[in-house]
Amino acid sequence: MKKQWWQEEVVYQIYPKSFYDSNHDGIGDLRGITEKLDYLENLGVTMLWICPIYQSPMDDNGYDISDYKAIAPEFGTMEDLEELIGEAGKRGIKIILDLVVNHTSDEHEWFQKALSDSGSRFHDYYIFKEGGQIPNNWRSVFGGSVWEKVPGREEYYLHSFGKKQPDLNWENEELRRELYEIVNWWLDKGIAGFRIDAITFVKKDLTWKSKEPDGVDGLSKCTKSSRNQPGIGVFLRELKEHTFDRYPCVTVAEAPGVPYGELGEFIGENGYFSMIFDFRYADLDIDSGSEWFKRVDWGIKDFRDKIMDSQMALQKYGWSANFIENHDQPRAATKYLKDGQDNPEAVKTLAAMYFFLRGLPFIYQGQELGMQNFNRGSIGEFDDLSSIDQYYRAVEEGYTKEEALRFVNLRSRDNARTPFPWDNTQYGGFSVHKPWLGMAEEYPRINARAQMGDKGGVYEFYRSIIRFRQKGPYRNCLIYGRIEPVLSSENVIAYKRYTQGETLLCWFNFSRGKEVEMLPDGGMEPVWQSYGEVCFHENGLELQPYQSVMLKLV
Ligand code: NOJ
Ligand code: CA
Repeated sequence: MKKQWWQEEVVYQIYPKSFYDSNHDGIGDLRGITEKLDYLENLGVTMLWICPIYQSPMDDNGYDISDYKAIAPEFGTMEDLEELIGEAGKRGIKIILDLVVNHTSDEHEWFQKALSDSGSRFHDYYIFKEGGQIPNNWRSVFGGSVWEKVPGREEYYLHSFGKKQPDLNWENEELRRELYEIVNWWLDKGIAGFRIDAITFVKKDLTWKSKEPDGVDGLSKCTKSSRNQPGIGVFLRELKEHTFDRYPCVTVAEAPGVPYGELGEFIGENGYFSMIFDFRYADLDIDSGSEWFKRVDWGIKDFRDKIMDSQMALQKYGWSANFIENHDQPRAATKYLKDGQDNPEAVKTLAAMYFFLRGLPFIYQGQELGMQNFNRGSIGEFDDLSSIDQYYRAVEEGYTKEEALRFVNLRSRDNARTPFPWDNTQYGGFSVHKPWLGMAEEYPRINARAQMGDKGGVYEFYRSIIRFRQKGPYRNCLIYGRIEPVLSSENVIAYKRYTQGETLLCWFNFSRGKEVEMLPDGGMEPVWQSYGEVCFHENGLELQPYQSVMLKLV
């Protein structure tokens, strides 16, 4: 693949509402991010992805935009954003923003005009269907029908997500042109690119037919009818040609459900995007991303197979975006390590395993501290609309309230959205005001102040692996090298990274016990390990509990 500037980045994802509250109203904000740039620079990240900061009624924390060119007042002003871009730039840190163009808020001016005048051009910016009954049985991602009745009219509008998030009608060319103008307006401001929200939802099944029900509610997941539909490529290519192609920008698309065989169109040489997120391994504990009550038993072997399949598929066509957490996922330490989450060495093995994969590493705020899921005692303690829906869906499907709460605790998006723990004082130093969402329970123990400078801690480990990838002697191989799985025992994930002149073999032990791994023929020299010594054994390499080791072929 042709070298691109963005292959060398390390991305840090910020959920602005929960990062740092600079004016003490309980809500994180843009100035809060600017005030914490030293922390991010010290960590070593080179690019920030900031979740939506646009004007919004915040029904889905900003993924419901009511004005694409205005900043949400709770987050600050356009000057605050410009200051953040400038200050970050001085530290060599680039900024990418979230681009949400599958839907707007129902409070967006376009939708308001569409509602008040069904003859206006804005009516066709959205998807309305006339008639006395619900047009079909598609279920929205956040629960219930995708159709919401327009008050006072025999008409429904479609929303793939929440009812305050009406889908835009991408079949309308005038609308598409308006969106492209907005994208370019932001790129002109000097941002480095976008993370693109729910982009595979922009094309719908235009027959609007009902599908076989897949739940006791008689509905059928809308992802079968409004995601990755034939013909979507025409829109995505046009989007790219009118916007991204005109700037030296980077794009990372949230594109769940793209079959591996179609990756070439998405991320190949002339693909729609620079990268896409692959959710197959992130969702290994559930049957589908949108049904948390369908739990799946899994072991490290399943994790390894999914990770390696994903890497091999992405490598075939382009570059990957590697992540173990984001604002929609549970905390990685809890999800992937189960009872190992309290062991910092386990957290480090997970970190190193995904960090040294081929592609761009994404770190979600708090992941670098080894933050954990919380355990809320009642559904009333959740803020996230999806968590609340999942609870009632599980009950409707026949689970007890206790079981439903367990599913939600394991999967809730609020797990990752708790305010960032800067220290162990009240509200974790996030704010002096009661935060909008309760802190994670472990914050007195797991917080930035406690970990910065602690050589054995998770934060310093992240710093060291970032430095090793970016500036270490094996930088070229770790960034640009190819990847291939290496045979390993049940609880170990192993792969090799290689260029023409160099081969690095990496093992990550996810077990509480020692493991002995077979070594390939040839001389081998240790180049890095997460802790302790590298121990060779008569039968190969002896990994210590939760130890990661990298050897170089000599
Ligand atoms: C994906 C975003 O990551 C999520 O937070 C949001 O709720 C949906 N898309 C809808 O925009
Ligand atoms: Ca604030």
